[in-house]
Parts: sequence; C-alpha cells; structure tokens
Amino acid sequence: MNNPQIITDIVRQAAAKARQEVMNEPEPALTGKLEWPVSCTVGPGLEGAIACETKIGYVNGTRGSLIYRGYDLFDLCAEATFEEVSFLLLHGNLPTRNELDTLSRHLQDYRFIPRTLRLIMGFPVQDMIPMAALRMGTNLMRQFQTERDQMSMAGSGGRQIASDEDSHSMETVPRGDQKAVFEFQERDANRPDPARIERAQAEAHGIGSCYHLIAGVASLTAAIARLRGGRLPIEPHPELGHAGNLLYMMTGKRPEPVEERVMDICLTLHADHGMNASTFAAMVVASTLSDIYFSVGAGIAALNGPLHGGANEAVIHTLREIGSPDGVAEWYRNARANKSKIMGFGHRVYKAYDPRARVLGPLAEYLVERSGREDMRRLLATAKELESRVVSELGEKKGIFPNVDFYSGIVYSCLGIAPDMFTPIFAVSRVSGWTARVLEYLKANRIFRPRAIYVGALDRPFQPLAERG
Ligand code: SDX
Repeated sequence: MNNPQIITDIVRQAAAKARQEVMNEPEPALTGKLEWPVSCTVGPGLEGAIACETKIGYVNGTRGSLIYRGYDLFDLCAEATFEEVSFLLLHGNLPTRNELDTLSRHLQDYRFIPRTLRLIMGFPVQDMIPMAALRMGTNLMRQFQTERDQMSMAGSGGRQIASDEDSHSMETVPRGDQKAVFEFQERDANRPDPARIERAQAEAHGIGSCYHLIAGVASLTAAIARLRGGRLPIEPHPELGHAGNLLYMMTGKRPEPVEERVMDICLTLHADHGMNASTFAAMVVASTLSDIYFSVGAGIAALNGPLHGGANEAVIHTLREIGSPDGVAEWYRNARANKSKIMGFGHRVYKAYDPRARVLGPLAEYLVERSGREDMRRLLATAKELESRVVSELGEKKGIFPNVDFYSGIVYSCLGIAPDMFTPIFAVSRVSGWTARVLEYLKANRIFRPRAIYVGALDRPFQPLAERG
C-alpha cells in the first residue's frame, strides 16, 4: 500500500485512457512564430486576445492535453519530480543530474526563512484568510532580496549579520556593523549557514529570487497552516524534497512515500497553465519592471478568487452540502434552475476533459480507498455522481467537464490538508509557472496596456455643487 510505484501506474493508466479517448480528435495546427501585429477576435475580459508568444506551455482545449516545454504533462507526472518540472519551466530543458542537485541545494537553502517567519508571526495570521497571509509573507520575504533593496543597502556601511532564532543581541556595544548579533558557532550540520544563504541570496536576483520564491512560498504555506492551527512553524527536514517538506512542515509528520509522491504529482499538475488569470496578473505587474516578489504577490491575489484557484475549496463545501450521492439530483436541479456555476466544472479553454482532472480523479479514488474513511468514501461517491450528471447533461452540449479543481480537494483532504489551505497549495505549485512566464516575458518586455472602449456620455456641462440638488 505504500509503494510509490502504484501512483506512477495510476498516472500511466490515466494517460493511456485519455490518449485512447481523444485519438480521433484532429490535432489543431499550432500557430508557430507570429508576425506582429496580429489580428484576433477579442471578447470581454480579453477572451481570445493574444498577449505574447511563449515556449513554456500549451493548453490544447479540444483534445484536453497540456504540455510544458514540449513534454506531455502525463509523462512529466509519471516520470519527473516537481523540482525537475520547475527547472524545465524556468530554463527550457529537463535538468542534468548536476543541474538538479544545484537547484535542490538552492531550494534547501531558501526553504529556511526564519526571519520572514518571525516577522509574519507578528501578524494575526489566524484571523486572516490564508491567501492574504501568504501574499503578505511573500512581501516580507523581499527583505534584502531585490536589487533595489541591495542598492539601498549598499551605502549602509558595514554588513548586517544574518540574525535568526539562533542568535541574540550582544550585551556589549556592537562595533562597526549596524546590528551586530552573536551567532552560535556550532551549527547543526544539516542547517545551512545563514551567512552562506545570505551571500547566495545577495548575489541572487532574477533566477535566484525565483528559486527563493518557489522554496519560500512552500515554507510560508506550511507555516501559515500551522499558525492557523495554533501551532508553531516547523523547520524543513534536510532529507526531504520539495513535496515531502511541504507535507512535513505542515503536518509535523514525515509523509509516507505514497503521500509524498501524490503531493509531488499535484504540484506538477498545477505548475503552469497558459495565460490564466493569475499568471497574467503576475506578468502585468512584471511588465512595469516591478520586481518578482510583487509579481508573485499579484498572482496570489488573483488566484484567491473562487472563479480561479479558490474553486477547489468551494467544491468540498458543495459536496458536503449535497451530503450523499442520493442528494445530487435535487441539488443539481436547483443549481441549474438558479443558473449558478457548479464549482470544479467548466473551463475557458478546455472544452474536453481537463487532463489534470483525469489524473486527480484516480488519485482521489486510490487515497480514499487507502484511508478507509467512511466520510471520504461518501464525499468521493457524491463527487462521482455529480460528475456523471454534469457531464451527461452539459459535457457534449456545452463542453463543461470537471476541471483541475474538482478532485484536488479530495486528494488534499486525504493528505491531511485543511480545505482553507487548498488554494495556497495551488500557489505553492503555480509560483513555478508565474516566475517562468515572468522571466520569459521580460526578455522582450512591453508594458501591458490594453484598451477600453469608451461608451459613456460626452460634452456634459459642468454643474457647480450648489446646483446639484
Ligand atoms: C482554474 O484559466 C485557467 O487555465 C484556470 C486554471 C489554471 O490552471 O490556472 O485552469 C484553474 O481556474 C480552473 C477553473 C476553476 N473555477 C471553477 O471551477 C468555477 C466554476 N467554473 C466557471 O466559473 C467557469 O467555467 C470558468 C470561470 C472556469 C470559465 O468560465 P468562462 O469560460 O468564462 O465560461 P462562461 O462563464 O462564459 O460560461 C459559458 C457557458 C455559460 O452558459 P450560457 O450563459 O452560455 O448558457 O457555460 C456555462 C455558463 O453558465 N458554465 C457553467 C459552468 N461554467 C460555465 N455552468 C455551470 N457550471 C459551471 N461551472
């Protein structure tokens, strides 16, 4: 029950089923290099607008397939780790062993964010919505991370010694440095030396800040989950990778190999997805030459919305409201009568089954079975009944199928993650896509500035305040 190979087999079976079902679908012709300016039909909300060219990812809405840098998502889920996929999105190729080791070492260093955690613990995190705390945390991470901060620091004379929970201010008057602190000389061999981290981070901007954010958003999310549960953050475990550390820092338990593998696949599934609202938000901020921390903060803000990343939490609430498979028929009738959107279904691009849901569905089934929990069994059975009803009535007719958010909540619940942390987990993954797309766009940057057609009044005579009734 704990062999991660089981999970790889589930992904491969989902891939085979998907490829079988769409094999007769014609492959749409890829656009290829564009000659700007391009003409395209644009609807409200920039629907259909072409904002830029990219080599990072391609969402094939008719066949229901997704590729990252030319690799099929199913293959990446089955064969690669989230660290490899993040490297691929950022750099364009799967990493060599050396490149992967270097990235892993950076992520391990950047995963330690004691100064940021101490700052965030000064805020009422337990009273904030988790995405607000996460967005604030990424801003606190900036500290001396951005070039602008470093330039403003440059004239400050002396170098501040990194201070963290292993240090306390000296009794004697500090000489030279602005803030001399005493650091324990003996450090746990596994904990990287803060000075080394600071040096690495001081040199890092651009790609280093991206690594810093990919690592730090995971540490922040785990810490926020613990603080909301009235517990203290947990330091990363030196032997665990990104997905394993996310679960470990959140739950305090080393995850089973199967759980770590499922979490890793979930992070790969959510990493990038074309010009979705949060990626576009991050790119708009970056196009003004603001910094990557602000861009990621904008992505977090956009992802929070229930029409975007917040849907997976709404799905769990819907399934609990329905209660059981028997309750689906009446609930569905009411939803259709009220013309309300059914959370976890539909997509602006996919008019076929979302390939991510094709993986998350079987993973949810496996984890629910493995959990032996009656409440999760009932939730899954309700989800399957709702999926069957929606797809039979709205699938072919309106191209409405389960999207990435429909089963992810059940998977996360089986991993011990609370519903209000589902969307931050989405951000833990999507920060790789946000940073990759921002770096790519900045290579040929042009500030985003679409138009709005003015349809308002003209030539109105000014009325002094006294005459306005
Ligand atoms: C994500 O862009 C991305 O790539 C996003 C994402 C990513 O990885 O970044 O894939 C992640 O955001 C997934 C989507 C999560 N959101 C939800 O599950 C919320 C519920 N879904 C809907 O709000 C909706 O499907 C959207 C927002 C996802 C897409 O909406 P569109 O493309 O704007 O479609 P629309 O609102 O114009 O609807 C078209 C028709 C309408 O019917 P008519 O008015 O033509 O009769 O389809 C209907 C809609 O009522 N419809 C739905 C529906 N989604 C669309 N009807 C019922 N339930 C739904 N979920």
